[in-house]
Amino acid sequence: MGGYPAVTSIFDAATSVLRASDASEKARAGREVHDSWAAGDIDMNPGTSSLPERPGRPESPVLVPPAHVPKRKVGTPEGRIALLHALTHIELNAIDLAFDMIARFGPGVPDDIRHEFITDWLTVGDDECRHFLMLSDHLQALGSSYGALPAHDGLWEAALKTTDDVMARLAIAPLVLEARGLDVTPQMIDSLRHAGDATSAQILSVIYEDEISHVAIGARWLKELCSRAGFDPRERFQDYVRERFPGGLKSPFNHEAREMAGLERNFYLNLTE
Ligand SMILES: [Fe+2]
Ligand SMILES: [Fe+2]
Repeated sequence: MGGYPAVTSIFDAATSVLRASDASEKARAGREVHDSWAAGDIDMNPGTSSLPERPGRPESPVLVPPAHVPKRKVGTPEGRIALLHALTHIELNAIDLAFDMIARFGPGVPDDIRHEFITDWLTVGDDECRHFLMLSDHLQALGSSYGALPAHDGLWEAALKTTDDVMARLAIAPLVLEARGLDVTPQMIDSLRHAGDATSAQILSVIYEDEISHVAIGARWLKELCSRAGFDPRERFQDYVRERFPGGLKSPFNHEAREMAGLERNFYLNLTE
């Protein structure tokens, strides 16, 4: 595998994805780690690298408060570019979240299920890399590019509140933030179609389908790790959300997609703001 020794540690490989600062390079490196793991070229030795304080990021986009990010009105070409840019930025964060799940929390997962945990989050990570590349290519086809507009850091700030506990990370990243994506994406797809932008709508449809499986992987691992620790997963989820996502959840919910992912209504219905 290019850039790595013949047999490398998955924790070193995941950390190198986190450290990559060029966005496209990060996405390509993530896909390469996924493929090398699948080919058996990477093992679970502890490795030698330490986690970066923050993941590597390109110099642009500049990060600004959410209110300063351009409006995403899908009725105009500029508004659609603003929407696609915001989504591309989310996917870049999602790449880092998936590889952070492996590098930060993988070593602490019980021995007998660690391999499976890593495989699941590499599947997610590979999807996020693909999503990022699809969207950034599309932005270029529209005459823009990732980094051309400012973006905000809300996603990573939410992640930073859960660096101490894998179950908290599972509750907040896949089961609050990605699940929120399931709630809002169908409406975006409709609006894009309505505005005559079938290509963007199609890209979002592919992403939407994949994201259901990411929420499913999050739900499965929260339930598994809770049951091993003797916790009720629903109670634990609710405690984490109240503690670490104090704004509460936004309705309306996409109950159907959430249920397909194994995130039952009784997990989230009483957590609305
Ligand atoms: Fe994604
Ligand atoms: Fe995702």
